[in-house]
Amino acid sequence: MTDNSTLTVGLDERAYDITVGRRLIARVDEVADAQLSGRHVVIIADDAVAPHHLTLLATACARSCHRVDNLLVASGEASKSMATLAGLLEDILAFGVDRDVVLVALGGGVIGDLAGFAAASLLRGVDFIQVPTTLLAQVDSSVGGKTGVNAAAGKNLIGAFHQPRAVIIDIDTLATLPDRELRAGYAEVIKYGLLGDAAFFEWLEAHGHDVLHRDEAALRHAIITSCTAKARIVEADEREAGRRALLNLGHTFAHAFESVCGYDGRLLHGEAVGVGMAMAYRLAGEMGLCPGQDGGRAAAHIAGSGLSTRLSDIPAATATTPELINIMRRDKKARNGRMRFVLPRAIGDSFVCDEVPEGLLTQVLEASR
Ligand code: NAD
Ligand code: GLY
Repeated sequence: MTDNSTLTVGLDERAYDITVGRRLIARVDEVADAQLSGRHVVIIADDAVAPHHLTLLATACARSCHRVDNLLVASGEASKSMATLAGLLEDILAFGVDRDVVLVALGGGVIGDLAGFAAASLLRGVDFIQVPTTLLAQVDSSVGGKTGVNAAAGKNLIGAFHQPRAVIIDIDTLATLPDRELRAGYAEVIKYGLLGDAAFFEWLEAHGHDVLHRDEAALRHAIITSCTAKARIVEADEREAGRRALLNLGHTFAHAFESVCGYDGRLLHGEAVGVGMAMAYRLAGEMGLCPGQDGGRAAAHIAGSGLSTRLSDIPAATATTPELINIMRRDKKARNGRMRFVLPRAIGDSFVCDEVPEGLLTQVLEASR
């Protein structure tokens, strides 16, 4: 199947299309003609992704643009830094760009967040296009305009809301994605079912293994459903004043686990989210907010997808429970020192809760060791 599907993120003058399909990188000039035609494009590519896709992308851009330049960024979370950003901005300026430049991010969430923030900062804001190449980036990070880099004080602490002008999701790029990265991205797919769409979760229970085996139709359905859910949430709450926070189901736990592991690749973001979601169900169960059978179903599907559900299964287990709780208190979502969790009421129903008794949280963390 070569049909493209197009969704729109309806944000008035910042509205944009998400195009999902196959062989899109080679046809980017057709798909994003309105955003590229006659412009100066600078492609910012992950250096591990570039050998697979950069030539095709640059060739397609060259058919539509008046000039195409490329910059490579080292693969890995360490590139989401102020140092890399500063170098990138200088390199882009050295091309003699003006405000008509379009940055194109080719890679996973690291490149999308970095290039997006470069676009937000360059000349006080220029256009950018997301071409995400990991499942995580295709279902989550490329949509919604959160851009940024990490700080010594924590992850994603420096950044801006800056919406892309287009998101182009070429399913074929996932063919070269390592299994472990695919599975980590799948945790974010499960998240959309758990946080607000019980029917999608049921579909995942039946077809998740097809997604993980890279079946094209299953991947397409999972990506389109996830992007549609994210688009509707972002339209309703672009700057996370309310409902957008639901996208953080499992993330208060996950960010603490990732922080302990130092973002060195031992624990991927999606892997941390898998454990975090299972723990959010356990906590909600202990608080009498969510039936235990729903928690059992969520954990069974997470585990059945090859993801961990317990603290004892991940390297963050080396941290003590008080250490983990201290990190949760410093989370971006915390307000006035009160921890904030997204908790489930059921499969497909979640809410923001800042009334979590520390004793129960301690109990849930301890029981997971
Ligand atoms: P990533 O960008 O580091 O990519 C993971 C690995 O896969 C890298 O080694 C990369 O080189 C490789 N890779 C990427 N595409 C490939 C392909 N097609 N074939 C082979 N290898 C490929 O990680 P990620 O999981 O995509 O993104 C994680 C980042 O996203 C984190 O920094 C996280 O904070 C951020 N994030 C942002 C948002 C947001 O809303 N902006 C949401 C979720 C996560
Ligand atoms: N991934 C969280 C958000 O985009 O809000």
